Amino acid sequence: MSTLFSVDAYREQARTRLPAMVYDYYAGGARDEITLHENTRAYDRLALRYHVMRDVDERSTATRVGGHEIDLPILIAPTAFQRLASENGERDTVRAAGESGTIMILSTLATTSVEDVVNAAAGPVWFQLYVYRDREATRDLVKRAEAAGCSALVLTVDAQVWSIRERDERNGFALPEGITMQNLEASGKPTFPKSEGSGLGAYVRKHFDTSLTWADLDWLAGLTDLPVWVKGIVRGDDAKRAADHGAGGVIVSNHGGRQLDTAPATITVLPEVVQALDGTGLETLVDGGIRRGTDILKALALGAQAVCLGRPILWGLAVNGQAGVRQVLDMLRDELEVAMALCGAATVDDVTRDLVMEQSRV
Ligand code: FNR
Ligand code: LAC
Repeated sequence: MSTLFSVDAYREQARTRLPAMVYDYYAGGARDEITLHENTRAYDRLALRYHVMRDVDERSTATRVGGHEIDLPILIAPTAFQRLASENGERDTVRAAGESGTIMILSTLATTSVEDVVNAAAGPVWFQLYVYRDREATRDLVKRAEAAGCSALVLTVDAQVWSIRERDERNGFALPEGITMQNLEASGKPTFPKSEGSGLGAYVRKHFDTSLTWADLDWLAGLTDLPVWVKGIVRGDDAKRAADHGAGGVIVSNHGGRQLDTAPATITVLPEVVQALDGTGLETLVDGGIRRGTDILKALALGAQAVCLGRPILWGLAVNGQAGVRQVLDMLRDELEVAMALCGAATVDDVTRDLVMEQSRV
C-alpha cells in the first residue's frame, strides 16, 4: 500500500530520486512554461455540478477506445527515454499497463525496441511515430510496429519543429552511456552526442521532417492497415482535416506544454474538437495536465473518450518501476471512481456534459 496520495506526491518523490537533468527534462516545458501550468490550472477553473440520489452501488470505470475494451479511461501517453526513470523503463510501463487493463502508447524515441516492448506486453500497444527526413527509416518504423503487433499508430504533429526548453538547454540534456533510442539503431540514428545546449534539440533539428503536411497523413494511412491517430490537435478545423485525410482518431494535445508556449490549455479546446468530429465516427482523446480523478471526469464530460497521461506515469516509474506505474494508475482509477459516484455516475456512459460548469475565480 503506497503512502503517496497524489500525483504531486509522486512527482516530489521522483524529484528526490532522479538526477536533476532527467527531472528537468521530464518536468519541464517550453520557454516560460505558461502552457505547462495552464494545462493543469484550467481544470481547477471547472466545477463539478454533481447529481445526487442516483444508485451508484454497482460501479465501473470500464470503457472502449479504438475498438479495445479497457478497464479504465486512461491510456499511457508516449514519452521518450523511460530507461532514464527505471532500469527496465518501457518494459515496466507496458507490464503495468497490462495489469491495469489499458493501452500503452510507445514513443518512437523509446529506449527499448518496439519488439521487446510488445513481447513484454499483456495488453495492447500503440506506436507513436515521428516522421524523419529519412522516409525509408520512417517507413521501416511503421512496418516494424505493424509486424511486432502494435494495434494503432499515433502520428505526432506538434513537434516536427522543436521548441526551446530552457532547462534542457542549460543542462546540456544528453543520454547517458548505454542508453539509446533502440528503434533507431537499424537506421543509424540511435543517439545524440553531449553538446552545448540540448542534445535532443540538435537531434530533432537534424532528423525530423519539417515539411510535413496533410498529404503525409494520406501517405501514412496508405502505408498501413493500422488506424492512424493524430496527436497534437488544438483546433476544430484541423481535427476535421485530420478526419478528411484518413485519421483513425484525434488526440487533443499541446505536447504537455513542451512545444508552443502560450498554446491553449487542452481542456479548453476539447469541446471544439469534439464538435468538429461529430458525425465522423472518430473518437477524441485528450492529454495535458491531468493530475486528479476529477480532471479525468471533466475531460470525459466534455466529450473525450478517454485521457492520456504523460508525466504522472514517469513519476510512478521513477519512484517504484512497474509497481509505481501500477500504483499511479490504481490511485487515479480510484479517484475517478469516487468522483463519478459523487456525481451520480455509476458508469463512464453516465458521465454527461451537464456535470461541468465554468467557475470564475476572483
Ligand atoms: C512527452 N511527450 C511525447 N509525445 C510524443 O508524441 N512523443 C514523445 O516521444 C514524447 N515524449 C515526451 C517526453 C516527456 C518527458 C514528456 C513529459 C512528454 C508528450 C506526451 O505524449 C503528452 O502529450 C504529455 O506528456 C501530456 O501531458 P502531461 O500528462 O505530461 O501533463
Ligand atoms: C519530448 C519529445 C521527445 O517532448 O516528444 O521531449
